[in-house]
Amino acid sequence: MRIIITDNYEEMSKKAAAIVRNQIILKPDCVLGLATGDTPIGMYKELIKMHENKEVDFADVTTFNLDEYCKLNRENIQSYYYYMNHNFFKHINVKKENTYIPNGAAKDIDEECRNYERQIKNKGGIDLQVLGIGANGHIGFNEPNINFEAETHLVKLDKMTIEANSRFFSSKDEVPTTAISVGIETIMKSRMLVLLANGEIKADAIYKTVKGKICPEVPASIIQLHPNATMIIEKNAAKLL
Ligand code: PGA
Repeated sequence: MRIIITDNYEEMSKKAAAIVRNQIILKPDCVLGLATGDTPIGMYKELIKMHENKEVDFADVTTFNLDEYCKLNRENIQSYYYYMNHNFFKHINVKKENTYIPNGAAKDIDEECRNYERQIKNKGGIDLQVLGIGANGHIGFNEPNINFEAETHLVKLDKMTIEANSRFFSSKDEVPTTAISVGIETIMKSRMLVLLANGEIKADAIYKTVKGKICPEVPASIIQLHPNATMIIEKNAAKLL
């Protein structure tokens, strides 16, 4: 894996956006895997600027998001559907029908997972997967003790994730306890991975991901086996390396 340590969040975001832009220039009809959370917000802002400056064209791009909470309607402002539209899609020229996000409010979640996985395969798999990382080492919502062979599936959120994500809700009790997540197997099949990490709170997870042993307790550690992975780490998140 390639490790890039940046001085600050802005530099991390710019470098990540440049990688995404270059992917789109090389393959205008590429398939991007996208992440939510605080970390990629700066990258999305940079990509929006690049789009406004006509440096990048999303007209033929397809996107698949990594995860979605269960039982939240798409109109709910805490849903990742809302997040993606609000923070990215409505500001660029990606076609709505080419943006895929699991439907966490689906009646049959298992069928939704199988269908999502089929849609990824039908589009030829993911060219470039952007990832954040949880302080517990999760990627997507693949929580510690994950089965590395999992494809898109229903997950039970870890206590630490519920605690961390409660900052977006009015109380911890409102945080959904389950979600749909693209699995590690699907993530690992992506042709390129770019993982972003910012802040000291991620330092332990980054250390274990980069230097620790590959184990299901640290889901991101599997990235050590990916042939084309880049980690862009802001210096506080890299402080234990
Ligand atoms: P964050 O979340 O970007 O909000 O820190 C990352 C994650 O949990 O994957």
